[in-house]
Order: sequence, then C-alpha cells, then structure tokens
Amino acid sequence: MPDSPNPSEELELDTLPGVGPATKQKLQEAGISTILDLATAGPMDIADAVDIDMSKAVELNNKARKKLVELNRLEPDFINAADLLVKRKAIDRVSTGSKNIDDLLGGGIETWAMTEFYGEFGSGKSQICHTLCAMVQLPRGAGGLGAGAVYIDTEGTFRPERIAEIAEARGMDADKILSRITVARAYNSAHQELIVKDLGKVIEPNGVKLVILDSAVAHYRAEFLGRGTLAERQQRLNRFMHQLLRTAEVYNIAAVVTNQVQAAPDTFFGDPSRPTGGHVVAHTSTYRVYLRKAGKNRVARMVDSPYHQERDAVFMLDEKGVDDPPEESTRKK
Ligand code: GTP
Ligand code: MG
Repeated sequence: MPDSPNPSEELELDTLPGVGPATKQKLQEAGISTILDLATAGPMDIADAVDIDMSKAVELNNKARKKLVELNRLEPDFINAADLLVKRKAIDRVSTGSKNIDDLLGGGIETWAMTEFYGEFGSGKSQICHTLCAMVQLPRGAGGLGAGAVYIDTEGTFRPERIAEIAEARGMDADKILSRITVARAYNSAHQELIVKDLGKVIEPNGVKLVILDSAVAHYRAEFLGRGTLAERQQRLNRFMHQLLRTAEVYNIAAVVTNQVQAAPDTFFGDPSRPTGGHVVAHTSTYRVYLRKAGKNRVARMVDSPYHQERDAVFMLDEKGVDDPPEESTRKK
C-alpha cells in the first residue's frame, strides 16, 4: 500500500489532550498514525501499542471518538432521532451491476455498513466483489460513487483481467478502472488484521468508498483447528470484524465481506448450509445475503434483515460480471 501523505493537522494524534510525543511515537510505530486510526483501533490494540492498561486504552479510544464527533466526522453516542435521520442521508449506495440484487438490497450496497455475501463455491461471491470494484467508480447517478476500491484478497483469487473484461463490457476504460483499485494480498489471519488496521492510509488519499474482503473467515478456519482453539479463534475474529465495521462507519464506506458455508449436521429439513464464523460474523454484518446456484442462474436472498422482505433475486454471471438474466429465463412458468 502506498504511504499516506501527512494527515491533515486536525487529525494529528498530539492534538488530543494527554497524548505527548512518546505516546504518539509508540502509536505510530503500531500503525496508528491519525485520530481516525485511533478511533477505529480496538482498545486491546491500543493497550499493546502504548503498553498501558485496558482502562487507559479505552480512555484514549474514547478521546479519539469524541474529537471525531467535534469534527463532525462521527455521530455522538446520544443523538436525536431527527438528527440521525439527517446523518443517515449521508449513506450512499453502490449498484451491484444487477438490478434484481440492487432491488433486494434496497438500491445497492450501502456505505456506513458491512454487507456479507455467503454461499457455496462457485455461487458468485468473488464475481460480485470484482464487479463492485468497477461499479463503485461509475459516476453518482449511474450506479457508482465516482470512487476507488480496496480489494483484500485472502485466497489469491483476485483477477485484474476479469475486472478489465467487466469494465470493457460495461463501456468503461479498463486501465482507468484498474488504476483506482488497491489490492492487498493477505497471507494469514495476522496479516489480514494488519492490513485492515492500515486501511486508513489508503482510504482518504485514494478516495475509496468500497472495501472488499474476499474472504473474511478462511484464514481463521485454516489456522485454528480443533475445538480447543475455537474460543481464541472467535475472539480474534470478533476483534477483527469490529475493526472493519468501525472503519466502515468512521469513513462512511461500504465494507463487503464474503463467507463460505459449511454443512450443519443438525439440519433435517431445508438447506443444511450455514455461513462460517458463527455468531461473530452474523452479529457484525449489517446485511447478510445468501447466494446459491440455480442451474445456469444464481439466486440471492437477504437473510435476517428486519428492514427487507425475505425474497429471492435471480442474477447471472457473464462478461459484465454480475448481470440480470434475460426476462424469459426468470419468468414464472
Ligand atoms: P469460492 O470462492 O470458491 O467459494 O466461490 P465464489 O462464490 O467466490 O465463486 P466465484 O464468484 O468465483 O464464481 C465462479 C463462477 O463464476 C464460475 O462458476 C462461473 O460460472 C463464473 N465465472 C467466473 N469467471 C467468469 C468469467 O470470466 N466469465 C463468465 N461468464 N463467468 C465467470
Ligand atoms: Mg471466491
């Protein structure tokens, strides 16, 4: 990732009361360079960085959040519902490339939120991620936000060629589209955590409004084997997922994560697939979308959302990436 330019002065760590040069240096050495980083960091990470106890770390984190509230970059803890409605108007949407999925999501992927796509292999999770990287760059009013994207690739499945193909099929300049996507290959769970901590360095300088994490849980599943490690795995995953969610909220970006499924042995009726990551991922994701194959088509379903109807949206994968199937193939016979 490129180095960030100097943070604007109002976000300098030492503008916070109680943060002197020594604390500032320790935080910076741990990759916490601005007040935005400090507000998105977990208290445990702050405690480790500065070598202070948890209560002091929580205090520091709160100071950073308070400062962001003063700077109007974060909503206060107590907020009038009318003000919250005004704030929520700042939420933007990015088209997925399929009108059917956009309708399902209420207009596209939301910023200030984390959207999870889960489903079996080949269900289209990575294809949705690739398509979104091009769509977010379209101008406002045309489905995008005229913004850049970050793609965190944990499985080595990111393909710039595929994005070039999608961009061209959609009449966009492939080179320009690729130049606004920052890719980070995460080799293990610790590396993945480090990359997410460093996101602040690329989000503002590159005008990023979309952060993809494909996939969220795979490294944790591979590294923490056996029942005995489950508690630690879930704890690490919980910290990590919250860091990503806070990043989405502080920067008002759309976070999109993918997740595999595993068979639930206790299911006797219906679909036995369950997303991995258990309650941690379920509770951190703002929206969860289940993808499955249906012949040549794919079906997306919004899961557990109090705000959306539970219904299916049919889509397909073609040279445009995610696309709507021709009318006749979705019409009910
Ligand atoms: P896993 O990561 O293995 O869990 O699966 P996934 O859900 O990420 O699947 P992915 O999004 O990679 O979807 C794979 C499917 O996308 C393939 O089965 C193809 O149907 C389709 N696909 C992938 N690449 C292309 C392409 O270049 N052109 C077209 N038309 N379809 C493609
Ligand atoms: Mg994939």
